[in-house]
Amino acid sequence: MKVLAINGSPRRGGNTETLLKTVLEVCADAGFETELYQAGGREVHGCKACNSCGENKGWCIQNDWINELYPKMKAADAIVLGSPTYFFDLTPETKAVMDRTGYISRSDGFAFNRKAAAAVSAVRRAGGVATLDSMQHFFLINGMIVPGSSYLNMSLSRDVGDATKDAEGLQTMKTLGENIVWLVKKIHG
Ligand SMILES: Cc1cc2nc3c(=O)[nH]c(=O)nc-3n(C[C@H](O)[C@H](O)[C@H](O)COP(=O)(O)O)c2cc1C
Repeated sequence: MKVLAINGSPRRGGNTETLLKTVLEVCADAGFETELYQAGGREVHGCKACNSCGENKGWCIQNDWINELYPKMKAADAIVLGSPTYFFDLTPETKAVMDRTGYISRSDGFAFNRKAAAAVSAVRRAGGVATLDSMQHFFLINGMIVPGSSYLNMSLSRDVGDATKDAEGLQTMKTLGENIVWLVKKIHG
């Protein structure tokens, strides 16, 4: 079983990365293959609505790293998408991942259907719920199945390293990891 975490923060080694790694550690301990993909901070464009992915089936005419990421998402049994909260919403890189891979997947036999998918966010103070909602809308309209945790999947953190001090946030990520493992095993019965 494979779990792919995608970090939409441009700040490498930051709080979102800490949250994602905490989830992945639990999945790895359960024997799952794990990968962390860095999306934040890399040049990317939004969907151009050219519909060429409909003809190319699984490949975008904007031949950038989205074409590297999409096959990893397609091969994963579970996807954990992480974004810091920026002005009460997700980062542009995270949105590009959603719009571009979401559109590709729909022209590729709804390839994300019935994958487990969870969103996590690092947030200094407010707006994390909206950020999680944005990502969860993407999961739900693509037929993905969303596991919960003991609280919403966020950490109150500002500076690099703050997420490691938020015990409740870390525990929420661990429980999320356990629920991802449980759900993936159920899906693949
Ligand atoms: C452009 C920008 C916008 C932000 N907007 C918000 C916000 O709306 N609400 C909030 O609580 N924190 C906000 N923050 C703080 C980040 O969410 C916080 O520092 C988070 O820990 C960053 O995660 P990272 O270390 O993974 O990049 C913002 C930070 C930046 C750089």
